[in-house]
Amino acid sequence: MDLHQAAVEARTRAYAPYSDYRVGAALLTEDGEVYTGCNIENLSFGATVCAERTAVFKMVADGQRAWTRLVVVTQDGGTPCGLCLQVLAEFLPTGQDAVVAWGTESRIIGEAKFHELLPSLFQSENVRKGEL
Ligand code: THU
Repeated sequence: MDLHQAAVEARTRAYAPYSDYRVGAALLTEDGEVYTGCNIENLSFGATVCAERTAVFKMVADGQRAWTRLVVVTQDGGTPCGLCLQVLAEFLPTGQDAVVAWGTESRIIGEAKFHELLPSLFQSENVRKGEL
């Protein structure tokens, strides 16, 4: 399935009664599977989950561990927030740079390699890594 179209469809399921800013995301896994997500807001604002994290959490919950391409759709073509990028960094593929694209319902506006968007992600040898 076309990732942009999948993100557009996911956006229709956004729950955003507080901001009215609906976001849809679709990612492709290393295995060629597609996972989608939308933002899910909460009256306790800090409990809101972005569309990108919804998608990656669904991917991980389903047993997948790496994504290679992500498309995010908003009303104005916003790029993923830093918090989501840090979460997405946890599940990057090895040996290739994942790609993030962003756009509106009608078109993709931009695209960048993941590390161009988050060149200085948090990394530490001193935080014990779980089994991958
Ligand atoms: N949001 C996302 O879903 N993804 C982002 O990368 C940035 C922001 C959501 C969170 C909130 O529901 C709304 O957009 C406004 O911030």
